[in-house]
Amino acid sequence: MKSESFAFNYKVYDSIEELSKEDAILLSEARDITQFAYAPYSNFKVGAVAKLVNGEKVTGTNQENASYPAGICAERTLLSTASSLFPGIGIDTIAISYNNVNGKSEHPISPCGICRQSFAEFQQRTKHPVRIILSGQEGKIQVIENAADLLPFVFSSDDMQ
Ligand code: THU
Repeated sequence: MKSESFAFNYKVYDSIEELSKEDAILLSEARDITQFAYAPYSNFKVGAVAKLVNGEKVTGTNQENASYPAGICAERTLLSTASSLFPGIGIDTIAISYNNVNGKSEHPISPCGICRQSFAEFQQRTKHPVRIILSGQEGKIQVIENAADLLPFVFSSDDMQ
């Protein structure tokens, strides 16, 4: 028997002023675009903006449904949009923010499990790591260099060879 471990490094910034201008703009856009979420059931509005490898930007917000499981997260809305408008093009950086209408929005949230799996497949398809910026409407910011870090032991098509 042997023990193995998994760890990854990420950066934490105290405020948006510490980011590069490009990252600050992306995060600011993600914060703003939460207003386009359709979240009448949770009142938890999530917004994402990505800069693609080709320089284009795409956005996504969560879109809920009275039949709750039919709703979709902001991240997967964005991945589907990116893949539909610019098939095969990788994401350089994605900023994800939220507005918790009935609560606080001052700490970073990170993508749900299904979205992590979707990021994994997107990265595999485009052969490019997705860099992730996470923050609420204010407060600390986390920067993760590779979405794969968020899903150790990922299941992928490689496992079905
Ligand atoms: N949600 C996202 O859009 N992204 C996340 O990373 C976490 C959760 C959405 C799903 C649902 O519409 C609402 O937030 C509350 O879970």
